[in-house]
Amino acid sequence: MDVAALAPLIDPFQRRITYLRVSVTDRCDFRCIYCMSEEMTFLPRSEILNLEELDRVCSAFIAFGVRKLRLTGGEPLVRRNIMSLIRSLGRHRGEGRLDELTLTTNGSQLTKFAAELYDCGVRRLNVSLDTLDAAQFHALTRWGQLDKVMAGIMAAKAAGLRIKINCVALKGVNEGEFDRLVAWCGDHGFDLVFIEVMPMGDLDAASRVDQYLPLSLVRQRLAQRWTLRDIDFRTGGPARYCVVGETGGRVGFITPMTHNFCESCNRVRLTCTGRLYMCLGQEDAADLRAPLRASESNQPLIEAIAEAISRKPKGHDFVIDRDHTTPASPRHMSVTGG
Ligand code: 5AD
Ligand code: SF4
Repeated sequence: MDVAALAPLIDPFQRRITYLRVSVTDRCDFRCIYCMSEEMTFLPRSEILNLEELDRVCSAFIAFGVRKLRLTGGEPLVRRNIMSLIRSLGRHRGEGRLDELTLTTNGSQLTKFAAELYDCGVRRLNVSLDTLDAAQFHALTRWGQLDKVMAGIMAAKAAGLRIKINCVALKGVNEGEFDRLVAWCGDHGFDLVFIEVMPMGDLDAASRVDQYLPLSLVRQRLAQRWTLRDIDFRTGGPARYCVVGETGGRVGFITPMTHNFCESCNRVRLTCTGRLYMCLGQEDAADLRAPLRASESNQPLIEAIAEAISRKPKGHDFVIDRDHTTPASPRHMSVTGG
């Protein structure tokens, strides 16, 4: 459904909102140790926006000048019929209203969907991959199989999709894998981004403290083996990039704990239940599901979006330390989307 163009969304700190991340499901076929517990209770279907509601809300944001859309989860590609939504959203790109339609995926379904994603107008994917060691991958994701994900990534590459690998740095878990990931991404022309583990979800907080590995240390260690040259390449996101002299590849670092990247924040996040989070690190959210369901007209929805943006906060304050062992955010990443 198309919504006529609206005035751009500008928040109280004069930041223009041009990027919407949408979690399309809280479900996943993996159970990564830093993301989910083994036994997860997922939300009942009635609470989740249906595909038509997702299309309406994304289209409303596009009318408001959002130029980039990222679908996340959970795992977006395990949602039934998700390709129909992606195809429908792809038309905004085809018609010049959207610069980019992209996904963050664990790669498990890519052998099936890569070519179709390209056909729908998707040109880039973020694939979460924390290790190239099959046994470690299985331990980390609990349910994942590395060979399937590898086949998926190669299918995506073959389909012409540009790939960015997201690697969550975990102390005592995948620390030994980083050099191999840099080399492998370099070989394949993939960008690589390291992410500090964030205090999300009601997982055991003590274990989260144990998992925390500052990226300053990761970078120091990489620099012993690779020539890292800082560049001012930005994707509009929080990653700081450098180029690896030996491979020519880009490596980025996302350090939510140690750096403040809020000043240039251009994004908001929608959960699969239709709650709009103006900041990843703050609890304030606006319910867009009620206005979506209240009326077939988009007017209530449009008003709710505008009102929400008018209270986007200035920044976050994540803390992981032994005095703050409760997560800064009790939400699971799989509900909000990373
Ligand atoms: N800390 C950091 N990254 C996380 N992700 C999921 N949970 C966490 C967490 N607690 C990452 C995934 C994926 C992206 C969607 O978010 O690995 O790359
Ligand atoms: Fe699934 Fe991604 Fe969470 Fe892993 S991190 S359980 S792949 S949503």
